[in-house]
Amino acid sequence: MNVFFASAECAPFFKTGGLGDVAASLPKALAKKATDISVVLPYFTKMPEIYQSQCQTLCNFTVEVGWRKQSCQVKQLKQSSVTYYFIENAYYFDRENLYGYGDDGERFAFFSLAIIEMINKLELQPEIIHVNDFHTAMIPFLLKEKYAAIKNFQSIRTILTIHNIEFQGNFAKESLPDYFGIPLEPYTDRKELFSDGLNYLKTGILFADHVTTVSPTYAKEIQTQEFAFGLDRILSYRKNKLSGILNGIDYELNNPETDQAIPAPYSVDNLADKKKNKQVLQEKMNLPVRDEIPLIGIVSRLTAQKGFLLVLDELAEILDKDVQLVLLGTGDKEIERSFQQFAERHPDKFKANITFDVDLAQLIYAGADLFLMPSKSEPCGLSQMLAMHYGTLPIVHEVGGLKDTVIPFNPIAKSGTGFGFTKFDTADLIKSIQAAIDLYWQNQEVWQILMKNAMEKDFSWEKSSRLYLDLYQKAISS
Ligand code: GLC
Repeated sequence: MNVFFASAECAPFFKTGGLGDVAASLPKALAKKATDISVVLPYFTKMPEIYQSQCQTLCNFTVEVGWRKQSCQVKQLKQSSVTYYFIENAYYFDRENLYGYGDDGERFAFFSLAIIEMINKLELQPEIIHVNDFHTAMIPFLLKEKYAAIKNFQSIRTILTIHNIEFQGNFAKESLPDYFGIPLEPYTDRKELFSDGLNYLKTGILFADHVTTVSPTYAKEIQTQEFAFGLDRILSYRKNKLSGILNGIDYELNNPETDQAIPAPYSVDNLADKKKNKQVLQEKMNLPVRDEIPLIGIVSRLTAQKGFLLVLDELAEILDKDVQLVLLGTGDKEIERSFQQFAERHPDKFKANITFDVDLAQLIYAGADLFLMPSKSEPCGLSQMLAMHYGTLPIVHEVGGLKDTVIPFNPIAKSGTGFGFTKFDTADLIKSIQAAIDLYWQNQEVWQILMKNAMEKDFSWEKSSRLYLDLYQKAISS
C-alpha cells in the first residue's frame, strides 16, 4: 500500500507539539507493517543542519497560489524505511517560528497546492493521502474540485486527522479565489461551506473520505458544543465517517531501560533504580533529597486550556502538603510569572523551569512519582502515556485521550494506572491530588502495583497503526 502522510511538523526535524511526535512515530510504525510510506513536510529552514545536508534535491517547479507564481523545490531524505519529501520556498518557510503569521492561510495554501503538484510532476501514485490538522486539510477539497479532471488522482482516497479542533485555520472566504484560484460562485448554494469564511479544517471534514481524531472519547466530545469550537454540527452530520484512534508513543525513543537522558535505567522488574533518578532530579532542582516524599512532575505548555489556572488557584494548598513539585514548560506569560513567584516563595518544595529542555523532560518522567495533567480538554495527550511507561502515575482530568488511557485508582479493587477527576474544578482537582499523596504515604505496596500496571500497559503504536491500516484499506476498497 502506498501512503502519503502530509504534516506541517515532524520530529526530529522541527516540531511545536504532539502533531510533530505523531508525524514522527506513526509513519515509522506503518513502515514496519510493509506500507510504502512517505511523509511530506515544509522545508523549514529551522531544521538542524545535519538533516538539511542529507536532503537531495528532486525537482523544481512553479506553484500558482492564486495569481501569485511561487517557486518550489522538492527535496528528499530517506530514513529508517520512511521517505521524507520537503517542500521548499524560502519566502514561506524561512521564518523564526513554524506558525503564527498573518499569512499562514497563504503559506499552507501554497504547501497544499505544492504537495498535489509534486505528486503530479514526480508521477507518484499514492493510494491514500493522510492529511493532518488545518495546514493540509484543504487537500481533499482540492483533489475533488480543482484537480478533479486529473485521472491519476481520481482513485486517491483521503483521510483527515484532527489533532486539536481548537486550531481551524479560519480565513476570509475570498481566500478561495485569492490563494487557490477557485471561484466562489459554484459554491454559493452550499451554505455550510463558505458562508462564514473559508475554514480549512471544516472544508477538510466535509471533503475527506474519512475523518479521524486521536482518541475515541474525543471523537464523541467534538460532536458536542462544549468541545467543538463551532464544528459540532458538521461533525455530527459526518459522524458515520468519523472515528477515534488513540495515538501511541515511540517505544524506541522512550524506554526507561535504554533512555540516554536518564542517569539510572530501570524496568518493571527493577523498580528500585527508578529512585536513583528521583534523587538526581531532586539534586538538580535544588530540592531536599528525600526518598519518601511524593514528587509531582509537570511537563506541559502552560495555558488555561491545559488546566494551569486551576492548578494556580490551588497551588498554595498543594504546597502546604508534604510534597515536592517540579515543573517544566513555557506558555502564557501570566501563568509563567505566577509559577515563578510561587517557586521563589517555596524553594524547598517547588522548582519552576520556564524553558524547553528535552533531557530534563525525560528526567522528570523517570524521576517523579506523580505526573499532573489537568487539561480542560485533551484530544489525546502523549505525556500521560510517557509518564505511565516510566512508572510515574498520572493525575488527570478525565476527558478525551486522558480518559481513554488512564485507569483511575480504585481503592477497593486496588486497581488502576493513575488518578482521575471528572469535574473540571478546584475541589475535584485537589481531592484527586490528595488521594494520590495519601496512597503514596500510606500504602507503598499498592503504589507498586499501580506502577507495574502503568508500565505494563501497551502504549506502543502496534495496535493503533494496525487500525490506521485497516482504515486505509477500507477507504481504498470503497
Ligand atoms: C495535539 C493535542 C494532543 C495530541 C497531539 C497529537 O497536540 O493537543 O492531545 O496528543 O495533538 O495527536
